[in-house]
Amino acid sequence: MSPLIEMHNITKSYKLWDDELKILKWINIEINKGEFVSIMGQSGSGKSTLMNIIGMLDNPSTGEYFFEGKDVSHLTDDDQGMIRRENIGFIFQSYNLLPKTSALNQVIMPLIYQGVGKKERTERAIEALKKVGLGEKLNNMPNEMSWWQQQRVSVARALVTNPVLILADEPTGALDSKTGAEMMELLVELNKEGRTIVVITHEHEIDAYAERHILIRDGNIVK
Ligand SMILES: Nc1ncnc2c1ncn2[C@@H]1O[C@H](COP(=O)(O)OP(=O)(O)OP(=O)(O)O)[C@@H](O)[C@H]1O
Ligand SMILES: [Mg+2]
Repeated sequence: MSPLIEMHNITKSYKLWDDELKILKWINIEINKGEFVSIMGQSGSGKSTLMNIIGMLDNPSTGEYFFEGKDVSHLTDDDQGMIRRENIGFIFQSYNLLPKTSALNQVIMPLIYQGVGKKERTERAIEALKKVGLGEKLNNMPNEMSWWQQQRVSVARALVTNPVLILADEPTGALDSKTGAEMMELLVELNKEGRTIVVITHEHEIDAYAERHILIRDGNIVK
């Protein structure tokens, strides 16, 4: 069986006038289905850049990326978008919630993009919100919820499409240590259901929840 994620010699550079800024230098990784992997490294080391490439939000400058054995590095944006919507859920540090939109409608949104019918998408969104402990907050707006509740809405939004992969970029960055631990417990639970989790952090307490640790420094994987 091929790995869920397989990267060969991935680089990412930005052009700066007549110079080139090399952000990712030579990345080779394999992540199997069901793994819980962390990506650690200092600020500016290239973690989010790598995550965005894994999530097909951005393309590498050179190298090959296989997702479920399929070469996705040369697909069109539309084709990548299709694979992303079906397979990947994102959790960010800042929740990226829509203002003036209820928790329920935030979580329904990805299902609308997938073309799921009204009855089913409402049921699935309610189920996802219950799962993160927000069954009583379906109609709350973001400004009526705590940071931790808002972050759980974004977790529900990430998992409602039943993705094989969840990418979390510093999901505890805006949380205190107690709610940060609860966030990680939630990811552990999703991992036990068989979902692959990749979490970026620079905190050792967070890193400890992962079963495999990728260390990145100056755009290279050093461990
Ligand atoms: N569009 C861009 N153009 C030029 N440089 C960029 C661009 N995006 C990111 N960078 C640079 O790439 C480097 C790596 O950025 P990245 O966001 O991947 O780091 P990070 O490891 O996620 O850092 P942090 O822990 O602060 O989130 C940084 O020096 C950043 O300034
Ligand atoms: Mg980052």
